[in-house]
Amino acid sequence: MAKQSRSYLDRREQLQVYFDRTAVRAWERLTTDAPVSGIRQTVREGRDSMRNLLMSWLPDDLTGKRLLDAGCGTGALSVEAAKRGAHVTGIDISPTLIQLADERTPRDMPGTITFTAGDMLAAEAESYDYVVAMDSIIHYQPDDMADAIAALQSRTRGGDSRVLFTFAPRTPALMLLKTVGKVFPRGDRSPAIEPIRESQLRAFFESRPDMKGTTVVNTQQVLTRFYKSQAMELVRQQA
Ligand SMILES: C[S@@+](CC[C@H](N)C(=O)[O-])C[C@H]1O[C@@H](n2cnc3c(N)ncnc32)[C@H](O)[C@@H]1O
Repeated sequence: MAKQSRSYLDRREQLQVYFDRTAVRAWERLTTDAPVSGIRQTVREGRDSMRNLLMSWLPDDLTGKRLLDAGCGTGALSVEAAKRGAHVTGIDISPTLIQLADERTPRDMPGTITFTAGDMLAAEAESYDYVVAMDSIIHYQPDDMADAIAALQSRTRGGDSRVLFTFAPRTPALMLLKTVGKVFPRGDRSPAIEPIRESQLRAFFESRPDMKGTTVVNTQQVLTRFYKSQAMELVRQQA
C-alpha cells in the first residue's frame, strides 16, 4: 500500500472504533428489515436506493467478473453482485461487520464472495473489473478521498473496468445536516462526513497524472430527508 497521510490514518482509526464498537449494533440493525425510528428508516431507504442505483450501472450479467466491494460493511452490495455471478472481494476495516457479512451470505449463489477484514487500500496481487465504494470514502478529507479514488482505480484491470463510488455533495442541505451519523444518538454518532463539490472532485481527476484519461460516465444524487449522497462512475481510457 502506498504511504497514507496522517489524516487518512487518524480518520481510519476513528472509523474502525465507530464501525467495530461504538455503533456496530446500530449498523447491524439498520442493515436488516427490523423496525427502526422514522429518521433511520429514511436513511435505510436512501441507502437501499443508492445500492440499487450503483447496481443499475453494473451489467446484469457479471459472470466471471471480479469486483472489489471497498468498505463493504455488512455486505449487501457484495451479495447483489454475487447473485449476478461476480467473484467478489469484500473488505472492511471492521472485523465485526465482516463477521456479520459472512453470516448473512446466502448459500448457492452463481458467484462467490470472500470477505476480509482490513484496509480497502491495502495492495494485494488481485486486480478487478469493477471497484465499488459505497459510502465508505465519504468520511475522509478531500485530498485523502482523491488519493483513495486514485488508489482504487489503480486496482482495476483497464479495458472496460470501472470505479463506482459515492461522495457527500457539498450542498446547503447537506451542510445543514452535515452527517448521516448525526441521526444517531450522540453516543454512537459517526466521525464527520466530509462534503465535497462535484467540481472539486472533477478538478482532482484532471490534475492527477495517475488518473489521466479518466472520464465520468455517470453521476447521480440520492436524496431522502436524512440521507444525501452522490454516486459517480469512472472509466479510464488506456494510453
Ligand atoms: C457507511 S458504511 C457503508 C458500508 C457499505 N458500503 C454499505 O453501503 O452498506 C462505511 C464502511 O466503510 C468502512 N471503512 C471506512 N474506511 C475504511 C477503510 N480505510 N478500509 C476499509 N473499510 C473502511 C467502515 O468500516 C464501514 O463499514
